[in-house]
Amino acid sequence: MGRTYDIDPDDYVREKPGRQFLVRTEAYTDRDVFDLEMRRVFERTWVYVGHETELPSAGSFKTAQVGRQPIVVVRGKEGELHAFFNRCVHRGAALLREAAGCVQELRCPYHGWVFDLSGKTRLVSERNDPGGYGPDFEQPEGLEPVPRLGSYRGLVFVSLDPDIVPLETYLGSMKHIIDAKLDLSPTGRIAIASTPYVCRYPGNWKLQAENIVDAYHFMHTHGAFVKLQAKFGDSTGDFGVHKGRSTREMREQRFRGTTRSCRYGHGFAQVPAADTDGLLDGEFGDLYRGLHAQHGQEAFERIAAKATSTVFPSMGMIHQQIRVWRPISVDETEVLIYPYELEGAPDAFNAGMLRSQERFYGPSGFGMVDDTEIFARVSQGLRADRVEWLLFDRGMDTDEQTGEGDYRGLPSSEAPQRALWREWRRLMGQGA
Ligand code: FES
Ligand SMILES: [Fe+2]
Repeated sequence: MGRTYDIDPDDYVREKPGRQFLVRTEAYTDRDVFDLEMRRVFERTWVYVGHETELPSAGSFKTAQVGRQPIVVVRGKEGELHAFFNRCVHRGAALLREAAGCVQELRCPYHGWVFDLSGKTRLVSERNDPGGYGPDFEQPEGLEPVPRLGSYRGLVFVSLDPDIVPLETYLGSMKHIIDAKLDLSPTGRIAIASTPYVCRYPGNWKLQAENIVDAYHFMHTHGAFVKLQAKFGDSTGDFGVHKGRSTREMREQRFRGTTRSCRYGHGFAQVPAADTDGLLDGEFGDLYRGLHAQHGQEAFERIAAKATSTVFPSMGMIHQQIRVWRPISVDETEVLIYPYELEGAPDAFNAGMLRSQERFYGPSGFGMVDDTEIFARVSQGLRADRVEWLLFDRGMDTDEQTGEGDYRGLPSSEAPQRALWREWRRLMGQGA
């Protein structure tokens, strides 16, 4: 099964602990590397496929991709979730092509076989008609299930690796970031509020995975936005972190944060809220005072902080959104942005969050276009492959190793990016 590759990941990621961390150009540009990643990275990790609120009732489905494998997640009759490969067991047609929807059963459009919501074969069309199946025909039981399905606080993940560690173990310290983000909701629950904003960029998928947790780039790549935010920012923009602040103050605030390289490739960057007292007395004081009473001071500070995160390999949480990136080819990536609402928060707060996302993300936003432009520039630059290495050493000498296999870094350390590459090297080095 499958071809063999002559790729030694130690040739692509070089680490001298505490001193040097290099990644080879071809890790972003080589087609064989990409092909191997689709197997060794994406088929051996927990991959985020959607939020439970996207599957509200029996028959609700969402299609997704794990590496190159098409899958579909369906809610069954009893409210339980199922995940299958999106492929008819007869002659291979994808059963569902829409991104999401609701069906009573899964009917293959090619020859009309029918499967129930739990994937069982219900009907082989014209089974005994002339030229049909004989008495010895072994009717397939049903659709091929994806080996593992799990969810954490409504976030649904699947894995093609039956032996993978449990989802909560896999998420590890990233759970604290997910908790802090979701606990901004008075009920602890969120709802995906709309269909995603989707864009593509001409570059490798890892550029997005690195960038979403890149605390270093913000003031540079997004310089124009920073100036606008200093002038016009309101209390919902970036959770109020930047309200009415000068560019210099914003920079100082950002450098009060921390970064983290987590086990299994995840990473995050966190900045404390500039003025928690101001939040308690401000426009949304009722919301924040309620959260403060519910969780206590220490947890409240975590909840009020601003965090960006990558859940390796292809999901992130930033601002009030879930982001997914899908590798299309070695030099093309699709990005899907799902804003969410906080259940129980004032409508004006959720609306304000959405407005502030529109300000930064999307075709008319001031920020995301900066990043996709940078991804295109990196892809262009990497064609100069006489330059062998990219440098990921920043902050390495001050990263502190913690007990759980994590490294805690200073605010603009490239610790989160190193997490990704360490896990990449580990997975790519494991034979088929
Ligand atoms: S391929 Fe699905 S019924 Fe034939
Ligand atoms: Fe950015």
